[in-house]
Amino acid sequence: MKPLNDLISIQDLDRDGIDRILGKATEMEAVAKERSDDLKGKIMACLFFEASTRTRLSFESAMIRLGGGVLGFADVISSSAGGKGETLADTIRTVEKYADVIVIRHPLDGSARVASEFSSIPVINAGSGSEEHPTQALLDLYSINKFKGGIDGLRISLCGDLRYGRTVHSLGMGLSNYDVSIKLAAPDALRMKPAIIEEMIAKGIEVEEVASIEAAVQGVDVVYMTRIQKERFPDIREYEAVKGKFRIGLEDVSLMRKDAVILHPLPRVDELSAEVDSTPQAKYFEQVYSGVVTRMAILSMMLG
Ligand code: NCD
Repeated sequence: MKPLNDLISIQDLDRDGIDRILGKATEMEAVAKERSDDLKGKIMACLFFEASTRTRLSFESAMIRLGGGVLGFADVISSSAGGKGETLADTIRTVEKYADVIVIRHPLDGSARVASEFSSIPVINAGSGSEEHPTQALLDLYSINKFKGGIDGLRISLCGDLRYGRTVHSLGMGLSNYDVSIKLAAPDALRMKPAIIEEMIAKGIEVEEVASIEAAVQGVDVVYMTRIQKERFPDIREYEAVKGKFRIGLEDVSLMRKDAVILHPLPRVDELSAEVDSTPQAKYFEQVYSGVVTRMAILSMMLG
């Protein structure tokens, strides 16, 4: 299998590349349980300049299950970048001496691309500003495939903060490699960027924009809900104006197809009522596990 180099954007992969990662992730279901020493002696550095629970811990869990070692920081304050003003370039030129792969999350758009330009070792984007989160998109595609038995032919709603949410940017572009139809549901101020809609349409995807959760959940196979990205609003009053507008409650689940699934990259705040957790459609806590096997697949294809 051809090794992966950097993974900065979901657009670094074509359909064949995505399918190969999803196939490898399926193989990793067994390896994840048994554990392996395929990556023994390899080191993964996690540089998290922004908060994370699932992305960092699932990358670490993935690397440990493959027998590799992990190091890094989870808090920018404790790094020289935060504490002493070191540049991203200098941080990368240092960490590349300590590890075999760098996993980076950073609040600025373009940060992961910049890191990869300064790095002699592979770089994985674990979230760059509001721009992209390609490994989340891969685990989302893996989850959709796992829960629905395929991706082609599905109707999928992407809901919530489509403007600042990086997961939906990468997922929307990733999905456009498949034969799907997409509903985009967001408050007016948080609609998907026109460039991404144009990209999806150019790839032959049917895209419909709707303005309510009720319209988003009806008649689709997958509802992908997201959190309003409070931390990315330039003006907190803009956040106050939209917060709480888009929520899924039990009444919305009753409008859904019985065999539909609800996914969410998590963390959730108030956009997904806790009452929904016990419905058969709720798959977001199972989706979390896809992060382990998908990231095992990515690390193994990069370093194996
Ligand atoms: C997301 C992120 O960081 O973009 N979280 C994640 O990686 N699972 C979504 C979010 O923070 O809302």
